[in-house]
Amino acid sequence: MIQRLAVPFEHRARRHSYGLRPAAVALLLVASSCTSSIATQSNTTPAPLTSTTATSAPATAVASTTPSRPLAAPTSTTSTTSTTSTTIVGARPAATLGDVLFPDLGNAGIDVTHYDLALAWEPLTGVLTATATLDIEAASPLAEFHLDFSGFTIDDLSVNGKTEPFQRQVEDLDITPGSVIPAGKFRTKISYHGIPDAGKDTVGRPLGWLRTPKGAYTLAEPGGAHFWFPSNDHPSDKATYTFHIDVPDPLVAVANGRLTATTSANGRHVFDYQAQEPMATYLALVAIGSFRIVESTSATGLPLRSVEPPSWSTPGEYLPVTEQMIDFFSKRFGPYPFNSYGMLFTDSVRDLAMETQTLSMFSADDMHGQRGDDNSFLSHELAHQWFGNAISPVRWNDIWLNESFATYAEWLWTYRDDIDGLNQRAEDSRRTAASDRRQLGSTGHPHRDALFGRQVYDGGAIVLHALRLKVGDDQFFAILQTWFIRYRYRSAGTEDFISVVSEVTGQDLGPFLTQWLDDLKPPPFP
Ligand code: ARG
Ligand code: ZN
Repeated sequence: MIQRLAVPFEHRARRHSYGLRPAAVALLLVASSCTSSIATQSNTTPAPLTSTTATSAPATAVASTTPSRPLAAPTSTTSTTSTTSTTIVGARPAATLGDVLFPDLGNAGIDVTHYDLALAWEPLTGVLTATATLDIEAASPLAEFHLDFSGFTIDDLSVNGKTEPFQRQVEDLDITPGSVIPAGKFRTKISYHGIPDAGKDTVGRPLGWLRTPKGAYTLAEPGGAHFWFPSNDHPSDKATYTFHIDVPDPLVAVANGRLTATTSANGRHVFDYQAQEPMATYLALVAIGSFRIVESTSATGLPLRSVEPPSWSTPGEYLPVTEQMIDFFSKRFGPYPFNSYGMLFTDSVRDLAMETQTLSMFSADDMHGQRGDDNSFLSHELAHQWFGNAISPVRWNDIWLNESFATYAEWLWTYRDDIDGLNQRAEDSRRTAASDRRQLGSTGHPHRDALFGRQVYDGGAIVLHALRLKVGDDQFFAILQTWFIRYRYRSAGTEDFISVVSEVTGQDLGPFLTQWLDDLKPPPFP
């Protein structure tokens, strides 16, 4: 049975945005301004041409004419770096993707197409022993390339089967093969082990591979993937994934995608998963624990799973409502984009859920009727599968394309039979938007440490509500569907959304949206 919830606004607002206490901001700013460039591991003497930090300027002049991977999706309308320069053999890629909020994340010149992650975990010691095999496409010949990676000892690194030298900066891995890698496909294989370091998100919460009393789980948004696997850790570079997770009996491991095999030997089990559709690094999920897994198939044939505490009284209690929500969103946004869906309820931090692709993650302590807003969590993370996962932000500044859409979808579900309730909710959020935006940055340009602030969640849902009131329901849902169908499985930015809006409505709604996104005081609703 579905319950309509009458949860007080403050309570809900606290739940679905991740704010900051002023003291935490100050600490974080200090921490982020002292990035060190001391090499932590090297299997070679430092190559003279290697830059010392991810953001430092390339040491040779040729790099300035080297095509860098554009931040926009290939056919996006965004203007991108010119690729008409002559090819310079052995040219060094520009070091970063130029993400304004996270300049250290991501590396230009490479496009990872597939990650194969073989991970063996020892719960008693916390040691992870892994081999990551990355299939990469080089835009032009590479004398070296860079990945994001933090912690661990690297035991071997090879390129196309040959062991090659590398150097490590703080959160960077610089690979300098003996000969230039030609443009096109190549494979690098990196074996490593150690107790994972925890990264920090923008409000100081831990990111990466995190331990629970009995197991572990990963949390990676925005830049936590490279704390557990070497990666091009930026949502503009999506890839497919396979996982092979080796854990001792009786632990169970889950990951994105579908289970393809389980093998057991010598008191250990290996769980293989395949995530077939392109996925951003921050959406990758592995969780290990004592889980009960309840599976079902929706009326349309979609495999569903609930990975839950064995102690919960009703096995798979959220599967029926989830199927109804998938149906509800599919009718409004377009067909569910992946070949499975599921929910993981684990010992993660309270008040935080994550839309990890095809397997959303929830804190078991937030659910099972313990707070009373279960369906808000469920609908929000499910809606991200369309907005955030199928279409991912091309730069972190465009986070409203994830969070405002998921929040508005949550409202659509909650108030599906109560348009007055929806209007009231939007008006309440519009009233607090001005003070939120003054403190946290605007919806369209959030401060780095307020990426998941209320001005992006509720304060961005009102932008969509304003658009809906301006153009009417038919055009509004046509916009959402065109946006989804055109950019699913890719990454896109605000400028791409504005052009879809203008195309569908036949009007230039750029100034309207920009005002709603960026004015410190949003206007009254149309
Ligand atoms: N994307 C998540 C959600 O709104 C929030 C993640 C916040 N991440 C963080 N590291 N605090 O559903
Ligand atoms: Zn969200």
